[in-house]
Amino acid sequence: MSRTAFRSTLDRAIRRSSRGIAPSACRYQSTSTSSSSSVPAVKDNELAKVIRDTIRATGPIPLSRYMQFCLSHPIHGYYQKSDVFGEKGDFITSPEISQIFGELVAIWFLTRWMEVDSPTRVRIVELGPGRGTLMDDILRTLFNFPGITSAIKSIHLVENSEYLRKVQNDKISRRIEDKEVELSWNTGINEIPEADDTYTLFVAHEFFDAMPINTFEKTDMGWREVQVDNDPMHGNGLSTQTSKSGLRLSISPSPTALSTVLPASSPRFAKLSTGSRIEVSQDSFKIMRRIGELLGKGKGGCGVVVDYGGDRSYGQSFRAFKGHKIVDVFDDPGNADLTANVDFAYLRESLAGTGTSALGPISQASFLLSLGLQPRLRKLIDSASTEERKEDIRKSAQRLIDPLGMGGQYQVMGISSGEMTEEIYPFISPKKESKVLKP
Ligand SMILES: C[S@@+](CC[C@H](N)C(=O)[O-])C[C@H]1O[C@@H](n2cnc3c(N)ncnc32)[C@H](O)[C@@H]1O
Repeated sequence: MSRTAFRSTLDRAIRRSSRGIAPSACRYQSTSTSSSSSVPAVKDNELAKVIRDTIRATGPIPLSRYMQFCLSHPIHGYYQKSDVFGEKGDFITSPEISQIFGELVAIWFLTRWMEVDSPTRVRIVELGPGRGTLMDDILRTLFNFPGITSAIKSIHLVENSEYLRKVQNDKISRRIEDKEVELSWNTGINEIPEADDTYTLFVAHEFFDAMPINTFEKTDMGWREVQVDNDPMHGNGLSTQTSKSGLRLSISPSPTALSTVLPASSPRFAKLSTGSRIEVSQDSFKIMRRIGELLGKGKGGCGVVVDYGGDRSYGQSFRAFKGHKIVDVFDDPGNADLTANVDFAYLRESLAGTGTSALGPISQASFLLSLGLQPRLRKLIDSASTEERKEDIRKSAQRLIDPLGMGGQYQVMGISSGEMTEEIYPFISPKKESKVLKP
């Protein structure tokens, strides 16, 4: 589909007042950093005690296990707690900043669906929907088009936080109350049923960065795993270096089960020099592969993964956020968000042989500008009633495409069923792209 066709689809879309913005920090970087000493002392962090006892019983644990404890523990896990998004939470995400984000994802879905002759059965799958804002904006936009509205039969949300499921339900149920659309939740991607007669639209925004990672260091003796261990100096009153939770990183002296398998999972890792570190997300690989298998069959489908990271591996991007600041990853387990950059090349490798093609990644700025951010922004500004409101709308959209900020740091990878015989807009090669875009 051409750029002009996108624009006319966009022009027919959506008329709604804008949601406003919250001037908070996003997760790809901090607006400020906080050293361990400026974080208030953690009194009796119960999760830290659980983790220390586990290590005492079984020895150092993989980093992935530590992340699972911190993010998904059924009682103390970060996402089980009250709202961690927005100004009062720990970070803010693109869909929360401007409605235009979700609207343009919807427009891409609409044009892909039209391109494959508008299948009469459609479902939408989202991984990690947060407050449900992105799904709400996508549905609001798609419901302006009667063809696809009547085709949408179900929405599948993969979410493991009970608290967030309630927030999502409140928002999305209202949006579909007069529609015959089934809304359901799954804990993992493997619970999403195959549906050969249905075209699948898939989205994951800031989901893969929350997936557990394992870190490995290449030594003269081969790959060694970086693990989480108890700090022997903790609690002796002498050390000023120890983390507040009594946990620290250590390198396993001998190979572990993970260090023999994961560094061999991509040919790219073998080329790295001694001393290099890699962060590998086994769960991301498996989840993306399953998405490929679901989209590669039957009526097929398409999707987008949006996250910070790049088309390469990272070694030291693991970090923690609390109150819009970067804090030590061991300061306050379960009360800080843990995250790592996404290796998009690894996600692409996971799709091999699934019957799907990976598209891009391209920058968020390229994606949004190509799909018509500017004309949509003009319409929203024109319909705003006060100068202050107009300025809010302009600033929030600008934030999404700032090449030095979210526009450049966030990447968008597309996925589409079938072998790619021609480029799919806006995932076009950089040479052609530069003619179209001037962020
Ligand atoms: C950083 S938030 C992003 C939320 C939303 N997509 C946005 O951009 O505003 C990560 C989301 O993934 C969910 N999540 C994290 N780990 C998960 C897991 N292992 N299984 C299912 N959902 C998970 C969280 O509860 C949350 O909804």
